[in-house]
Amino acid sequence: MKILTVNLDKGGGGKSSHTYNLGDWLSRVQEKRVLLIDGARECNLTHSFDVTSDKTIYDVFVTGDYEICQVNNRLSLIRGDARLTDEQLDLTSRNNKYLQLFMWFSEHYEQLEKDFDFILIDTHNDESLVTANFIAVSDVVLGVTDASTNGFRAWLALKRFVDHIKNEAIEVISRKSYVRVQPYLIGNKIEYYGNHVTETCRQFLDVVEAEESYLGSVQKKELMAKSLVLNQSVFEQRELMTTKQVTTHQIFFDNIEYVYRNILNSMERID
Ligand SMILES: Nc1ncnc2c1ncn2[C@@H]1O[C@H](COP(=O)(O)OP(=O)(O)OP(=O)(O)O)[C@@H](O)[C@H]1O
Ligand SMILES: [Mg+2]
Repeated sequence: MKILTVNLDKGGGGKSSHTYNLGDWLSRVQEKRVLLIDGARECNLTHSFDVTSDKTIYDVFVTGDYEICQVNNRLSLIRGDARLTDEQLDLTSRNNKYLQLFMWFSEHYEQLEKDFDFILIDTHNDESLVTANFIAVSDVVLGVTDASTNGFRAWLALKRFVDHIKNEAIEVISRKSYVRVQPYLIGNKIEYYGNHVTETCRQFLDVVEAEESYLGSVQKKELMAKSLVLNQSVFEQRELMTTKQVTTHQIFFDNIEYVYRNILNSMERID
């Protein structure tokens, strides 16, 4: 089982859209068993699914009780909660405040590993302890940014945040960190005119392509914008298209699958 958290401390870059579409791609196209966790208090990911439960991710932090909602035979969800803040959870005053979720995972790992191949976690755009807890249990943290200077700055900040979490979560005697997460980056909403990317996007791509953890970029595309509105991933939308329609969007689909395969490989490389 591999765990991936999607995070970047900049709003609107596409975190929830890619958590949703990547989760659907892994389950629908790659036939993996996927658990989504909505770790963002605005609960955008949760709103995409017609499921209910008494318990949410809030209860995982508070009592450790959990409820997994089955969306279909390969996709499940732990629902989000508006109360998922450091203040509501009183995280700052707890011992091992970076490792609260880590302890929960250790306790339930065997069962989760039996049921799932991948866990994908969406987060709020912040550097809260809640977000740090999600990053601390992950194998990969995926930064998703639009083609902006602020987005790239937020990526640099994410790498520093990861180092900070690693330093805060050390085993006291060996001084080794419990946290082994690797940060990776994808670009999003790349704009084209004809076959060319726009000048600003070109500049952005020149900078991110030099990053060794860069896994590719996804273009700005109505199919993506629609996915969280229709509650249909781009891959589900593809299944409903005629062959001719699929051909029209072939470059987009080839590219997003290339990027998602890179993400999958980055998770599988970690042992
Ligand atoms: N590749 C894309 N092409 C076109 N629109 C996109 C693309 N990716 C995301 N969007 C749109 O951009 C907006 C923000 O996306 P999303 O909600 O996924 O970002 P987020 O990082 O989760 O935002 P927040 O910080 O609010 O949680 C949404 O309206 C979404 O439909
Ligand atoms: Mg979001």
